[in-house]
Amino acid sequence: MEKKEIIKMSCFRFDPEKDEKPHFEVYDIPLNGAMCVQDCLTYVRENVDPSLAFFINCRLGFCRRCLVRINGKSCLACTTEVQDDFTVEPLLKEKVIRDLWCESL
Ligand code: FES
Repeated sequence: MEKKEIIKMSCFRFDPEKDEKPHFEVYDIPLNGAMCVQDCLTYVRENVDPSLAFFINCRLGFCRRCLVRINGKSCLACTTEVQDDFTVEPLLKEKVIRDLWCESL
């Protein structure tokens, strides 16, 4: 199978102060070597939509503050590499502050 140069990230978006309900936005992400989910989110925030909210802390897989669901499975955004289209959304039992920025209930 041919390696993709651009993948699609379907990303949960929700601003409780503006949106009536959550929705998904699809972003094209140019693959630049080995990229993790957090790299893709950072690409969108720096190049497409600076309002995208998500958590960055240690980036080493230690703090576990970047837990999200990737294609339905709980994963750390900072250590999960992607090479194909994927969906990223908050964990099920978290309160959404905005987009992927959440707090435990
Ligand atoms: S940012 Fe700390 S585990 Fe991902």
